[in-house]
Amino acid sequence: MKFNYLILSWFDKNKRELPWRNTRNPFHIWLSEIILQQTRVEQGKNFYLNFITEFDTVNDLAKADEQKVLKLWQGLGYYSRARNLHFTAQFVSNELNGVFPDTFKELKKLKGIGDYTAAAIASIVYNEPVPAVDGNMFRVFSRYFNVEDDISLAKTKKVFWDLGIEVIDEKRPGDFNQAVMDLGATICLPKAAKCDICPLNESCEALRLNKVQELPIKTKK
Ligand code: ADE
Repeated sequence: MKFNYLILSWFDKNKRELPWRNTRNPFHIWLSEIILQQTRVEQGKNFYLNFITEFDTVNDLAKADEQKVLKLWQGLGYYSRARNLHFTAQFVSNELNGVFPDTFKELKKLKGIGDYTAAAIASIVYNEPVPAVDGNMFRVFSRYFNVEDDISLAKTKKVFWDLGIEVIDEKRPGDFNQAVMDLGATICLPKAAKCDICPLNESCEALRLNKVQELPIKTKK
């Protein structure tokens, strides 16, 4: 499919060099995705590096004192994330012999892991073709495919999930999801989209229809 080809070719040349992009260690990818749930990439990098320096494996994190985990989390906010992180590390370490589940469905059963995070981990670590549906994906997909569903409605997530399942690259689902994240974070921006340098500008429906600023449709905050 043209979309995949264009976005993956762009990603191969322009992807952001991030510390969690040279590994498929499930513990490290899980940690990075929990940090990135509510923290910007630039800020998240250092916390990620500090964490894996302190805790190399899920068993190390499980054994750690909760106060130490919370202390390392200081500055990231949303402390429930740190508590869930510690809880889940103990669960994986004690109940699953330190082995992370390896499917989207099973990952979602872990505390602190929702659809988006489960899809990111399953696609990046285990090559499962599941789309990571978030704000970036809403923006890139709604514009490229001219999807007019209101993203403030809960039911719209399924529209994007279904579309994601249809178009996700089956051979490189993790790169595909991260390409969408990178395009959404650097080119397909909410306000000042850089369509002139976008690798998808020749086939983007919103650009053709002059609707880039209208999409995605969001009626409520
Ligand atoms: N945001 C959430 N997950 C990410 C990832 N793997 N790379 C870049 N940004 C992200």
